[in-house]
Amino acid sequence: MSDILVNTEAGVQTITLNRLDKKNSITAAMYAALADTVEQAQNDVAVRVLVIQGHETVFCAGNDIGDFLNHPPSSPDTPVFRFMRALADFSKPTVAAVCGPAVGIGTTLLFHCDLVYAGDNAAFAMPFVNLGICPEFASTLLVPKMFGYHRAAEALLLGEPFFAEAALEVGLVNRIVPPTEANALAAQQARKLAGKPLSSLIETKRLMKKDHAAVVERIGEEGAIFSRMLGEPAAREAFGAFMEKRKPDFSKL
Ligand code: COA
Repeated sequence: MSDILVNTEAGVQTITLNRLDKKNSITAAMYAALADTVEQAQNDVAVRVLVIQGHETVFCAGNDIGDFLNHPPSSPDTPVFRFMRALADFSKPTVAAVCGPAVGIGTTLLFHCDLVYAGDNAAFAMPFVNLGICPEFASTLLVPKMFGYHRAAEALLLGEPFFAEAALEVGLVNRIVPPTEANALAAQQARKLAGKPLSSLIETKRLMKKDHAAVVERIGEEGAIFSRMLGEPAAREAFGAFMEKRKPDFSKL
């Protein structure tokens, strides 16, 4: 079974992260498939709305750390950056359903979705600092804007998880439902969107996202710093510790 499932029905394309044994962490091959899918969906008249979902127990544990170390993102055409650009540029409505852990890009991709429905078990985290790297996907721009600076600093400097109620309060999610209902709710809302005039949806989204150029610029700026930091001692210690299943020691860094 593929790690990324894609299904298109009645104008709604649903992408399901499907690598449950590794908590839906994303490999370079999966990023390439995601990037291709979103790029094609942009130009496919049969796709009016995109849905991104995981499983009722887990949305996404972020980058697959082992794979990530073997394929570090180096240039703007690296699959992870291609996926980020494709989703940030996607002009049609995007709906996400999030249950369980949503770590790293599992949370940051949500800032590029238009509607987000969460299971009451959702646990969001952007632990970039704890990994010796910096945030990505324009989250240094979009998180302070959505959360306010101090709550953004808590999320991005401490990198601790926050849960569905907190995500609802700051506006990251639209509604909290039982985990077994999240994907169905996203599908229901996507079907509603698919029945509306696409040109109106596209213009409305574009007008709401007037900071798009700044978002794209920030994705690039963060990406360059992220790639550099991956090779530095703090990241090497953090990722080494994850692979060895031990706590990292940053005391000398
Ligand atoms: N990369 C690679 N493998 C990962 C992974 C990741 N990001 N996240 C989880 N896995 C793997 C684990 O190594 C484990 O593999 P194993 O069964 O071969 O030992 C398996 O998925 C299950 O993970 P586990 O940690 O046992 O599940 P959990 O339910 O206790 O915790 C998470 C789930 C998501 C909270 C936890 O796995 C986690 O924090 N993962 C790392 C997330 C992270 O730092 N991502 C940022 C990457 S930039």
